[in-house]
Amino acid sequence: MHVRIVQAHPDPASFNAAMSRAAADALGGLGHTVSVQDLYASRFDPVEKAEHYGNRLDARSFAPLAEQRHAWQTGAVPAQIGAEIAELERADLLILQFPLWWHGPPAILKGWFDRVFVNSGLYTSRMRYDTGYFRERRAMVSVTTGAPESAFGAGARGGNFETMLWPIHYSLHYLGFEVLPPFQVCGVQGHGYAYEDQGMQEQRLRAALGDWAGHVTRAPELPTLPFPGWDDWDADGQPIRRAEPIP
Ligand SMILES: Cc1cc2nc3c(=O)[nH]c(=O)nc-3n(C[C@H](O)[C@H](O)[C@H](O)COP(=O)(O)O)c2cc1C
Repeated sequence: MHVRIVQAHPDPASFNAAMSRAAADALGGLGHTVSVQDLYASRFDPVEKAEHYGNRLDARSFAPLAEQRHAWQTGAVPAQIGAEIAELERADLLILQFPLWWHGPPAILKGWFDRVFVNSGLYTSRMRYDTGYFRERRAMVSVTTGAPESAFGAGARGGNFETMLWPIHYSLHYLGFEVLPPFQVCGVQGHGYAYEDQGMQEQRLRAALGDWAGHVTRAPELPTLPFPGWDDWDADGQPIRRAEPIP
């Protein structure tokens, strides 16, 4: 399989970068090919704006969806975005590696979604969800947090991963990906913020890297998250209420 890792962290010496390397090494060791996109190192511009489009549909006002569609139809998708799409098309598995920042992904990753998934090219009104462009490919979030594992869950202090990661998971589903449950490493606190002995933390994080390396190699077989699809909605997009089966 070919694996694309998209990493959203400003420091190549961070724990997040170590997570990307651990995944790449483990997958590479099994003969898979891996490419890593370090969004900061490659100076990815996450801000969707008029300046990205040379051949504008409308030079006076900037309507992002209309300009994306026009760029796709005229073969004028920005070069950096075209390269991203080509890498995604090659990949059987997409991994999004990032630290939890304000209960969600860093802004650079949100902007990557805004720009890379080009309207009319990678989704249309019918080419979405279970008929999406990337169907039969898998995607997985790998997230690190500062708060300890014990602080997460429904109603818990640190928040609930299901709701915090829902926008990113649902967007991946919208694009057709089969979405794997997220992998979390919690309590990643460096540089004097440690709430536990530094040596203990280092040991725990080393073990977490090993767990992640094992986990990621099992990605092709792991069960995916359940999402509704076209057969589950009526013409307005509301869930179809099915009669309970007669016992
Ligand atoms: C801007 C910012 C926002 C953060 N928000 C959260 C948060 O909402 N929840 C949390 O548990 N940790 C939060 N953290 C802590 C990071 O998740 C933590 O530092 C990171 O996972 C450690 O990984 P690293 O060593 O690779 O940076 C935040 C950190 C920053 C810089």
